[in-house]
Amino acid sequence: MGRTWWIYFVNLAQAFVTLATNDSYARGAMVLGKSLRNHNTSKKLVVLVGPQVSNPCQSVLKNIFDEVKVVDVLDSGDAAHLAMMKRPDLGVTFTKLQCWTLTHYSKCVFMDADTLALSNIDELFEREELSAAPDPGWPDCFNSGVFVFRPSVETHGKLLQYCTEHGSFDGGDQGVLNGFFSDWATADISKHLPFIYNLSSIAIYTYLPAFKQYGGNAKVLHFLGKTKPWSYTFDRKTRQISGGVQEPAMHPSFLLNWWTLYASTVVPMLQEHYGDKPFHSGCVEGESGSSHAQAFQPIPTSEERKEQWEQGQADYMGMDSFDNIKRKLDTFLK
Ligand code: UDP
Ligand code: GLC
Ligand code: MN
Repeated sequence: MGRTWWIYFVNLAQAFVTLATNDSYARGAMVLGKSLRNHNTSKKLVVLVGPQVSNPCQSVLKNIFDEVKVVDVLDSGDAAHLAMMKRPDLGVTFTKLQCWTLTHYSKCVFMDADTLALSNIDELFEREELSAAPDPGWPDCFNSGVFVFRPSVETHGKLLQYCTEHGSFDGGDQGVLNGFFSDWATADISKHLPFIYNLSSIAIYTYLPAFKQYGGNAKVLHFLGKTKPWSYTFDRKTRQISGGVQEPAMHPSFLLNWWTLYASTVVPMLQEHYGDKPFHSGCVEGESGSSHAQAFQPIPTSEERKEQWEQGQADYMGMDSFDNIKRKLDTFLK
């Protein structure tokens, strides 16, 4: 009887899972974990880490997560496809596939380390594998930053086999997962998560009226793209965020959400675990700090701006504003 009950309990365990192969993404994971806890999740929290994640960071993760599991880092090594996304760093996202090995949970929700929960999202566990929200760039594909899955040694094996046989059309996990769960777009609408469970700033540029109408209902923010919240600098006194201009502005209030949680809850934990050892928190204090932060602000070269344009990431509010483009076109017409 006791044993049956125990098996029953184990079968029911469910968890949010994230991944960090280095200390930068580990900070994202810390903030994500805190955001889930702050909204009183009843689920377990698991973080998969690569062996590169430093001891102090692993200790902080242990304070926030129920389980910190060191996994082998898998790398697609697919430079050609990754170059098309201008994200050579994303080969290691193959490591995400290791989440299927967490078979002591019956169902899990994977969330990228660059996501942030804005409310309790435990209702996601009512969904089945593989549920995910559409990718803003190609909505017939799902975005693999947030998805519901069932851990299974069998599925894990099949996924790895799929990688060997077919590779990934984007060089990262999203290409593999969309290839493997290829009927997602058409088979079962209940596996389409509403976009508010994976809202990225890209939506602001691609469909501003919809963003204004629905953005306020967002439950999960996704800081998708090369520049992450931790690439910026935050002034604690003025609450100004600076730097990170390699890409057009992320929504400032999204960033402030992330930084508020990071500066108030994660940085003190990092300070405690680093002790005397120096570490870069990304926070500065007051006036002098601000000007220090400004000094880091690189002005993109014309080549870099061209690249951003080609990735659909124009600085619509600044240098690439309509007025500026019109002025430039006028000079050609004259
Ligand atoms: N990731 C990681 N180390 C890396 C790159 C990615 O741990 O060097 C993990 C992390 O969980 C991250 C996810 O893989 O959130 C997907 O990468 P990213 O969020 O940068 O991709 P994007 O959403 O910007 O396309
Ligand atoms: C996407 C997803 C990310 C994934 C990457 C590589 O942009 O947001 O989660 O790791 O593509 O496939
Ligand atoms: Mn992401």
